[in-house]
Amino acid sequence: MNPFKRTLITSALPYANGPVHIGHLAGVYVPADIYARYLRLKGEEVLFIGGSDEHGVPITLKAKKEGTTPQAIVDKYHGMIKDSFQRFGISFDVYSRTSAPVHHETASEFFKVLYDKGEFIEQTSEQFFDQEANQFLADRYITGTCPKCGFEKAYGDQCESCGTSLNATDLINPKSMLSGNVPVMKETKHWYLPLDRYEPWLKEWILEGHKEWKPNVYGQCKSWIDGGLNPRAVTRDLEWGVPVPVEGAEGKVLYVWFDAPIGYISATKELTPDWKKYWKDPETRMLHFIGKDNIVFHCIIFPAMLKAEGSFILPDNVPANEFLNLEGDKISTSRNWAVWLHEYLEEFPGKEDVLKYTLTANAPETKDNDFTWKDFQARNNSELVAILGNFVNRVLVLTNKYYDGVVPAAGALEARDEETLAALLQLRAETEKALDTFHFHEALKSAMEMARLGNKYLADMEPWKVIKSDPERVKSILHICLQITANLSIVFEPFLPYTMEKLRGFLNFGKMGWNELGRRDLLAAGHRVNAPELLFEKIEDEAIQKQVDKLLATKKANELAQATVAPAKPHIEYDDFAKMDIRTGTIIAAEKVAKTKKLLKLTIRTGIDERTVVSGIAESYEPEQVIGQRVSILVNLAPKNLKGIESQGMILMAEDKDGRLIFVAPSGEIGDGAEIR
Ligand code: 2FM
Ligand code: ZN
Repeated sequence: MNPFKRTLITSALPYANGPVHIGHLAGVYVPADIYARYLRLKGEEVLFIGGSDEHGVPITLKAKKEGTTPQAIVDKYHGMIKDSFQRFGISFDVYSRTSAPVHHETASEFFKVLYDKGEFIEQTSEQFFDQEANQFLADRYITGTCPKCGFEKAYGDQCESCGTSLNATDLINPKSMLSGNVPVMKETKHWYLPLDRYEPWLKEWILEGHKEWKPNVYGQCKSWIDGGLNPRAVTRDLEWGVPVPVEGAEGKVLYVWFDAPIGYISATKELTPDWKKYWKDPETRMLHFIGKDNIVFHCIIFPAMLKAEGSFILPDNVPANEFLNLEGDKISTSRNWAVWLHEYLEEFPGKEDVLKYTLTANAPETKDNDFTWKDFQARNNSELVAILGNFVNRVLVLTNKYYDGVVPAAGALEARDEETLAALLQLRAETEKALDTFHFHEALKSAMEMARLGNKYLADMEPWKVIKSDPERVKSILHICLQITANLSIVFEPFLPYTMEKLRGFLNFGKMGWNELGRRDLLAAGHRVNAPELLFEKIEDEAIQKQVDKLLATKKANELAQATVAPAKPHIEYDDFAKMDIRTGTIIAAEKVAKTKKLLKLTIRTGIDERTVVSGIAESYEPEQVIGQRVSILVNLAPKNLKGIESQGMILMAEDKDGRLIFVAPSGEIGDGAEIR
């Protein structure tokens, strides 16, 4: 029996320094939304909290890079994120932000309570300081080599290569992100939450008390606790954030990971004056939906903060997911390797549910998973269109054709009819069990089984044949098919809410609670359904190719950006340069040089004359490709004999990172013979 009266669902607050992508959706927001919708459909009291995380160093760094203020950055992205979540149909009860005054007050007050209770250790220590920027270098203001894996671009708070959580002083060869300088050490005072004091309690609460948590979550907690916990600084020397509300803390703010989870409380406060009911009543069940990189903060640090405060409830479960990759590569905001939600919504209008479906069917619940556009297309075309859409469409077409859209009464049922109807209840139980244990991929599979069940029943019963010999029997068959369709509109409601609204429109049927699922009398005989439209559209190859090409272009751009550039050669005098006579020209004939792989014999119109140049470009171009090509040619290079041909000059080429040669050619309207200098 569920001992709780209500559920408080929190979903990780995304940083407002970039848009939301499919990794965020698959890991956090889609499962949280399914769960919230499921509970609401069951008639339970539920609150679903979201909001933007607007503090932290990456936001200030981005503002600096773009020559603007942190507030302007978070205003831009908060607006964008909130809008795309809303259009996508993530059903938050509130979507707040941590720069809101209510949050500053709440976080400040929380700190003050702990401070007054003596829960912090106040400690002065030496920290990295950038003398040029006159600033302490917290978290991501500093980079260096990871002491654990050797990755050279680890940050002061974490190595993104091996995932280790770091202290800035752990870094080897630390460097300031502000000036690139090697930092000096300078004394500063901070407040620390002594996590070590909570070790025995955490052992009991998690390791003994929450063995039911997902293995990935429990495992991470165990390894943190077994590794020994240390006091953790909860303040920083920064300007952007919630000011530390005590004397002697000027120029200091709360650490972003101290204030962010308090954001869940502030968001609840923003929504309702009755917020304490959700945060302080032990009959509230709190669930944190997060990605795996947030586990320690939600299972160890935030609970320790709540415990220290003393009047709040603790999470009952933290169903964290692993990561979603994209086309075999880690999703990355800085490399633009992502499918951005706002772009998806523009490029696939009306297909919000298709993305929700794909991300759930392929959810990274127990291991990292991969999103591919081909899989997205296949899920749509072979599952949503071919199974769910097809069944609904056939049932509605036949009902309109045979009975003018009126639900026929069933006659005496046969064994197969009974089995099919009984299977509805069985599938309800399976879907429910999976949802109750946060196995959303499994739950969706069971829901899809219901559509498969209908399809199989319809195909086996062949009403289009039976109508000729036994029209009465067809009434029973379609009656049953219509009941299955109505059940589908309930079972898919948490997963495909826009589509189920459409389906209810087709059925002329109101929204039913989850508890009605499995019923065999949802649509009464005599009820009129509407003429069907398509529930899903096929996605064509061209639309998919466009997305694949977009990613290829990103990959190419990243490779180019990463290509190592040869260092500059030593200085030369102007006179050395002026000795070269470089002209614009055009290739007018080209042929391979026999018995060589690399050489082409080119005839070039230089404006001065037509001359032969032997050029090593045959591995990059076929002769016919280069005829008509404009070139830059060094015309006063001493002639040289190459494979028995006199070469009278040299054309200028640039080499890309794959060794392909690219013409350095005049770009505007300019004839042959113009001097290049
Ligand atoms: O990892 C992140 O994107 C964080 N902004 C999540 C914060 S969750 C909560 F604590 F606010
Ligand atoms: Zn590392």
